[in-house]
Amino acid sequence: MNLPSRVKLVEVGPRDGLQNEKQPVPAAIKIELVHRLQAAGLTEIEVTSFVSPKWVPQMADNAEVMAGVNRKPGVRYSVLTPNLQGFEAATQSRPDEIVVFGAASEAFSQKNINCSIADSIERFRPVAQAALAKGLTVRGAISCAVGCPYEGEIAPERVAMVARLMHGIGVQHVGVADTIGVGTPLKVQRALEAALTVYTIDQISGHFHDTYGMALANTLASLQMGVWQFDTSVAGLGGCPYAKGATGNVASEDVVYLLHGMGIETGIDLDKLVDAGAFISDFLQRKPNSRAATALLNKRAQA
Ligand code: HMG
Ligand code: MG
Repeated sequence: MNLPSRVKLVEVGPRDGLQNEKQPVPAAIKIELVHRLQAAGLTEIEVTSFVSPKWVPQMADNAEVMAGVNRKPGVRYSVLTPNLQGFEAATQSRPDEIVVFGAASEAFSQKNINCSIADSIERFRPVAQAALAKGLTVRGAISCAVGCPYEGEIAPERVAMVARLMHGIGVQHVGVADTIGVGTPLKVQRALEAALTVYTIDQISGHFHDTYGMALANTLASLQMGVWQFDTSVAGLGGCPYAKGATGNVASEDVVYLLHGMGIETGIDLDKLVDAGAFISDFLQRKPNSRAATALLNKRAQA
C-alpha cells in the first residue's frame, strides 16, 4: 500500500456536473455554487467550458460565469477548451488552467468533439502551445479510458497511446476518465498504469463517473497506487451529453468522507461542502446524489 497523506480534489461540479442538466441553470446560480465550493476549501475548480453553444447550450454562459466569480487567492480556476477558437474565447476570462479533452476511443472522439483522435491532437497542439506561452497550465482528459458507450471495453494500450500523443504536444497532466462509469478496480488500475508509462504519479489524476456504483472502489484502488489527484463533483452531479447512459461523477462529499476517514488530508470542510451540494440540489429540485451528504443531512435534521 502506497497511500498518499494528502489528496487534491478538482471540483468539476460546475462544469461536468451542470453540462448535462436539461433545465437552464442561470449564471448567478453557477457563480454562487463556485463561491460555496471555494468557501468549503476547494482549491481547484473546473468552472465551465468554451465549447460550441450548439453542442452544449448549458455552457453558453461561460464568459459570464467566469466574470462573476470573486476569485479567492490560492484557488485555481480551469476551463475546457476543445480548439483554438475555444481557447481564444477562454483567455478573455483569465483561467489558470485549460483542459483539452481527448478520448481513448475513436467512436467517442467523433461523437464528442466531431473528429478523430489524431485530428483532435492536431487541434489541441496549438491550444497547448498558446496556453503554455501564456503561462497557463495544460491538463488533458482521456475519456473512455476503460470503456466506451460505442466501442465497449477499451485496452490499456489505447490509454498509453493517447497519453503519449498528449505528452508530445506539451500537455502537462492527464486525467484518466471512466466516462461511463463501467470500470472496476483492476481495470482502472491498468488504465492508470498505462498513463503512468508516460506521465509520473504527480501528473495523473482519476476522473470516475459512478454509473455502476464503482467510483469509490476505483478511487480507493487508485489511492493504493499512490494516485493523489481526483476530479469529483459535488452532490454527484455530472455526465456527458455524448456518453449515453452515463451518470454523475463520484460525489465530492463521498470522496472527502472516505479520505478523512482514512486520515488523508484534503483541506476541505465537509460540512460546508455538504451545504454547497444541498444548495445546487435544491435549485435542481432533487436530493444530493451522495450517500455521505444524505447521511449528514439526515443527522442534522435529527439533531
Ligand atoms: P465542429 O462542428 O466540428 O466545429 O464542432 P467547427 O470548427 O466545424 O465549427 C462549427 C461551428 O461551431 C461554428 O459555428 C464555430 O464557430 C463553432 P457556426 O459557424 O456554425 O455558427 N465553434 C465554436 N463555438 C464556440 N466555442 C468553440 C467553438 N468551436 C467551434 N470552442 C466542437 C467541434 C469541438 C466545437 C464541438 O464538437 C463541441 O463543442 N463539442 C463539445 C462537446 C462537449 O463539450 N462535451 C462535454 C465535455 S467532455 C466530457 O464531459 C468528458 C470529461 O468530463 C472526461 C470524461 O468524463 O470522460 C472531460
Ligand atoms: Mg466527465
